[in-house]
Amino acid sequence: MRVLEITGQRQLSGAIRVSGAKNASVALIPAAILSDEETTICNVPEITDTDALCEILEGLNVEIKRASESIVIDPSNMKNERIHETYCKKLRASYYFMGALLGKYKKVEMCFPGGCSIGKRPINLHLKGFEALGATVTNERNRYIVEAEELKGANIYLDFASVGATINIMLAAVKAKGTTVIDNAAKEPEIVNVATFLNSMGAKVQGAGTSTIKIEGVSYLHGCFHEVIPDRIEAGTYMIIGALCGNCLKIDNIIPAHVEALTSKLQELGVELEIGTDYIIVTKPKKYRATNIKTSVYPGFPTDLQQPFTVLLTQCDGKSKVEETIYENRFMHIVYLNDLGSDITVKNQTATIFGPTNLKGTHVVATDLRAGASMVTAALIAEGTTIITNIEHILRGYEQLVEKLVSVGAKIEHKEI
Ligand code: EPU
Repeated sequence: MRVLEITGQRQLSGAIRVSGAKNASVALIPAAILSDEETTICNVPEITDTDALCEILEGLNVEIKRASESIVIDPSNMKNERIHETYCKKLRASYYFMGALLGKYKKVEMCFPGGCSIGKRPINLHLKGFEALGATVTNERNRYIVEAEELKGANIYLDFASVGATINIMLAAVKAKGTTVIDNAAKEPEIVNVATFLNSMGAKVQGAGTSTIKIEGVSYLHGCFHEVIPDRIEAGTYMIIGALCGNCLKIDNIIPAHVEALTSKLQELGVELEIGTDYIIVTKPKKYRATNIKTSVYPGFPTDLQQPFTVLLTQCDGKSKVEETIYENRFMHIVYLNDLGSDITVKNQTATIFGPTNLKGTHVVATDLRAGASMVTAALIAEGTTIITNIEHILRGYEQLVEKLVSVGAKIEHKEI
């Protein structure tokens, strides 16, 4: 079994370069098949989630060339095959092939997606959007067939500003006849990045980044070159690590506006930050003030940083609270944080953290991707050695995590036990 072994309480300094955004890349790769020509996407992180999407592309007979940070995708000979359940289950983002294949071929057959078990995560809003565009959805057990004679632009109101549904509807609508308007659309930077990619191919998407997105259908999409934005969640994770053990730890290749909710919370805690145009330097303060956070859609505090941020709250003076409003089950890391020595209780959707507490290394489990990030964060401040199992969850989302942390002075290594 592969584990991560971390010996904590080292001071970290130097620079960590943030990779391309996972949650943008995992939508851009399926979106590339909408093009009728070859596209190049650069700054794609080498993580197992992007590998899994490339495997799906291969199954669809799409030609891919992968260099270290870029992927060239040529769908000219692709075939609209059924995507096997094993691949759908590998990750959440397999569902972007629903919108992309529906948009391109007017038919898609695939299964319910996989991904972290952090709540029910239904796809009803995606399907409602496809139906509004004129598709019929047949659901037999776990298999979905979504098809349409013709896709026609429509006005779609999302009951919740879902990231996945907003992107999937955009993918299905770019080649539909007429105009589609998505209201109460999600506003995350990843959505803007996908819309920019589609527009570089010749699509007509306006308003991405606001709650109303307007898409005028076009019949042909050409090749283009596109760059993935920096990963705001990876950046945020390292900023939190810097707040805990940084001595002028520079987080490089960052878009500061994308991490403002975190920046202001760190400042409230008393963390010293130097914010540059594309970097943030973080230094651990002597003491941290307790605070409360409530996760919400962008530009609110991101749910994906809630778990690592909770580790920081274990070091704050007094009582802090974390309210999770996006997922029903994103507190699985708490039991392991308490095993490490924290004092946290969870009631309904709120965790109450009493601090400061000394953490001591032990055996813990990465129950999901960001829970795994919180285990790494906790292990870096714990006394002694921590062993983290189920690390495949972490590898799905953090490129070269071990190498990046080692380069700034952490003692962390992959081990086979
Ligand atoms: N929801 C519905 N119906 C739908 C779609 C969503 O009820 O049809 C609910 C979900 O169950 C959830 C909430 O709406 O409770 C938010 O879901 P959303 O669709 O916004 O999220 P997602 O597309 O499933 C993406 C990221 C997540 C990130 C969220 C929120 C990808 C592949 N995943 O998920 O990333 O937490 O947006 O920002 O982009 C992660 O990186 O660790 C991660 C989980």
